[in-house]
Amino acid sequence: MQRRTMLGAIALAFSVNVAFAAGPIVIKFSHVVANDTPKGKAALYFKKLADERTKGAVKIEVYPNSQLYKDKEELEALQLGAIQMLAPSLAKFGPLGVKEFEAFDLPFIFDNYEALHKVTQGPVGASLLQKLESKGILGLAYWDNGFKQFSAKKPLRTPADFKGLKMRIQSSKVLDAQMRALGSIPQQMAFSEVYQGLQTGVVDGTENPASNFYTQKMHEVQPYLMLSNHGYLGYAVIVNKPFWDGLPAAVRTQLESAMKDATKYANDIAKAENENDIENVKKSGKTQVLPLTPAERAGLKKALMPVHTQMSSRIGDGLIKTIYKETGFNPAN
Ligand code: LMR
Repeated sequence: MQRRTMLGAIALAFSVNVAFAAGPIVIKFSHVVANDTPKGKAALYFKKLADERTKGAVKIEVYPNSQLYKDKEELEALQLGAIQMLAPSLAKFGPLGVKEFEAFDLPFIFDNYEALHKVTQGPVGASLLQKLESKGILGLAYWDNGFKQFSAKKPLRTPADFKGLKMRIQSSKVLDAQMRALGSIPQQMAFSEVYQGLQTGVVDGTENPASNFYTQKMHEVQPYLMLSNHGYLGYAVIVNKPFWDGLPAAVRTQLESAMKDATKYANDIAKAENENDIENVKKSGKTQVLPLTPAERAGLKKALMPVHTQMSSRIGDGLIKTIYKETGFNPAN
């Protein structure tokens, strides 16, 4: 064998061995909530299915509770390739430059999960995910959480009750406008800091589905939880696109099938998980859970509907109207 050919052969053998020795493909899936939430459970279910279906060729490492990164950092880490998979709430895509996702934050825009699914499981949802591709991100699926409830240090029944309260929000400008429309002062804060923010009085109240409220132990530091169901909170499962595109095709297919089933699971459990956590909050005896009367809810809706028009230039009037059409929502009602 000529010297050059031999060196080539050695190099090839070495690289194959290195690839082999490198072991399974690791996918770091980072998120900010507890394992015992719709997103936390679905992430673990995806891990189980992916491990099984790739027969160990892929290892999904799930990092819950902001263990690796907080809200904003996790998106940067995904783009840099430090982690491969995330499921941020739809309210957190604005800072990335994809403001259209904030349509999901518009108060009262979805009456129930069925209306929401017309968007997330239809062409509008798919076209929104496509907007992420120019950012080096691929959107794989939407996972439900649920409808948000206001919580605070005092009961909140009418817009007047919100006046002057400091309310923690996610990064969405729609949520900022929502809190201002109620006369409160929005304070953007990472999810991992909310408990302490409420405990120390940096903020007076917040909003989240009951699953997040209970699993972050916010009932220890918020005496009132209002069943306002005034808006939706859910997720887009996203991956680093160059990483995903570079996976062996067969592995990608196995992971896509695991994601499809994990998505069904996530969306099947979300409603019951939240209902269950409302009961858990009640059982804790630490927070009073206050249902709102239809008139009280209508009063909040009246104060909040102007946010739709106010935010239409940011989100896109066409997109908002398309969502109304898909869901049958009538803003005048
Ligand atoms: C929040 O920051 O309030 C939520 O988006 C957290 C989450 O991921 O559910």
